[in-house]
Amino acid sequence: MASSRRHPQPRTPWHQTRTGIFHQTKAYSVSDPQTFHFLDLSESAPMKTVSTLLCFPNSNAVETGAGQEKSKTMGARKALTRSIAILVLAQAAATVAVMGQSGGAIPTTLEGPFEPVTRRFDPSLRLGSDDLPMDHPRLKKNVTSSFPEQISLALSTDPSSMWVSWITGDAQIGKNVTPLDPSSVASEVWYGTESGKYTSQQDGRSAVYSQLYPFKGLLNYTSGIIHHVRLKGLKAGITYYFKCGDSSLPAMSDEYSFKTMPSSSPNAYPSRIAVIGDLGLTSNSSTTVDHVIKNDPALVLMVGDLTYANQYLTTGGQGASCFSCSFPNAPIRETYQPRWDGWGRFMEPLTSRVPMMVIEGNHEIEPQVDGITFQSYRTRFAVPSEESRSNSSFYYSFNAGGVHFIMLGAYVDYNITGAQYSWLMDDLHRVDRSLTPWVVAAWHPPWYNSYNSHYQEFECMRQQMEALLYQYKVDIVFNGHVHAYERMNRVYNYTLDPCGPVYITIGDGGNIEKVDVDFADDPGKCPKPEDNKPEFGGLCPLNFSSGPAKGKFCWSKQPEWSAYRESSFGHGILEVVNSTYALWTWHRNQDAYKEDKPGDQIFIVRQPGLCSPTTKESSDPPQGAQALEPASPSSTRILSYKMMWLMSLLVVSFGVVTR
Ligand SMILES: [Fe+2]
Repeated sequence: MASSRRHPQPRTPWHQTRTGIFHQTKAYSVSDPQTFHFLDLSESAPMKTVSTLLCFPNSNAVETGAGQEKSKTMGARKALTRSIAILVLAQAAATVAVMGQSGGAIPTTLEGPFEPVTRRFDPSLRLGSDDLPMDHPRLKKNVTSSFPEQISLALSTDPSSMWVSWITGDAQIGKNVTPLDPSSVASEVWYGTESGKYTSQQDGRSAVYSQLYPFKGLLNYTSGIIHHVRLKGLKAGITYYFKCGDSSLPAMSDEYSFKTMPSSSPNAYPSRIAVIGDLGLTSNSSTTVDHVIKNDPALVLMVGDLTYANQYLTTGGQGASCFSCSFPNAPIRETYQPRWDGWGRFMEPLTSRVPMMVIEGNHEIEPQVDGITFQSYRTRFAVPSEESRSNSSFYYSFNAGGVHFIMLGAYVDYNITGAQYSWLMDDLHRVDRSLTPWVVAAWHPPWYNSYNSHYQEFECMRQQMEALLYQYKVDIVFNGHVHAYERMNRVYNYTLDPCGPVYITIGDGGNIEKVDVDFADDPGKCPKPEDNKPEFGGLCPLNFSSGPAKGKFCWSKQPEWSAYRESSFGHGILEVVNSTYALWTWHRNQDAYKEDKPGDQIFIVRQPGLCSPTTKESSDPPQGAQALEPASPSSTRILSYKMMWLMSLLVVSFGVVTR
């Protein structure tokens, strides 16, 4: 049951690791000088550090201007008062540095593993999941045929390049459809660093796809012309302005802008990274997207299951939360592809200015004639597959500041003998942790999941790939698929391990299938292994070999590797502070228009000294040695959203000392 969500109770020592070497809690205590300097401000932080936290270059900063005039008449007593006030402010700032948005202390993974916590589902939140209709203003086409729409951005592997995508022309749906000619409309992007002054132009490629169902009574679809242009020669951390389209028609878009990511460095990170899973196109999805926009991300990770167009028959009509239940006689899993176009418009206010990185989920499979699959996903999205040497849009990698992201495919071959595994091994080997200390991986179905839904569904994938991710010390893993939220304690091979990744399931975007509410450890809810059959790959169910669930498929209580779980819709924001600290916040939809308290919040802390990956970080000369040290107190990004509060406090205190 819910208890003290924001103050999880640390367990006693890490235990039962594979090597058996992590039996003592001491190494993870808050007094660990290697890792806790950033937080250890309340008693021992030097004044210099505190001034930095306050954004004052030195303690005289408050004595400039009018304050300097007054200081001439100040006696020693007033100076002392001022010093005390500054100290109070400093202490407040230091406190803020480790406070959450609700004002409580934010736990760190150093304090883990935590006792499992469950917050039970509020049944009233299960309402309102119907899909938005196609004539909803957010889904309607608002440009004439040849003008760009559904404009979106995606990162390349580094900040010197950015993908711009859009669609022109009208999609068709009917018994007979004629694909448009992609060469009939050019793919141009004009861009520059000043609004209205486009000093560069880049041309790109275009394509159409068709979704064909040669069955009686089913309709076919062919898309508009989908354009992808890769801008080059960009500088890191700079705002660019652009228009896209075909200037010869003429049919260029309005002006849009984006900011490139920082260069790879242990000292530079995107401000906020939004993570969304299983979004769909419902009223709950709207709340999620509005909430994400409000949180102003610099980058969006979309961990699969995007539109849920395959919850419809090809004739459109009402979507179903369960396709096979509602349409048991369908000759094939149908889709209504115009939902994709509606989704592109729905997302455009976000994706036309913030790059969105997608990975495929099971709802993107969309089988059609001749066994063709994933046509919409593969044609609509530009991803840096070629740039990251994967040559498959099903898995790829990219850098954003000091974070290396790896996007993996769960619905293509993931076996040790396959191309994806081979690419993953090469990609992990190439990561330079002195430049990108953080490695974050994402794919659709979770390996660690204590919900009844999709329980152990992708055990085969875990058994093939987990050791490789552990060997290279991947820091965080994001998944979707389960329509709820769950954050795991650090874990490897179902055993608590301080060097395992932090797995987070965030498939709670708000789609038509509703939120998942049952746990595999609830009485009578343990599924049979064959109940959760994956759309790809085999079944590799596992009975636990140790612990309270030894010999069983399900635990009889929340497993020890599950730190926190809650059935609500929402999204997450990752704010990487420096090379060892990152703040993770889960935002629940129901809090969007209230106090916006985080549903879950924790500092994810890397311990490179303890958990050494087999990469350049552990073998190269200490060029980036500083990057391996714990967070510097001067890393004030975490304070940015507290500045209003701080400024208020500053004004009040300054008034007190100058009275
Ligand atoms: Fe899924």
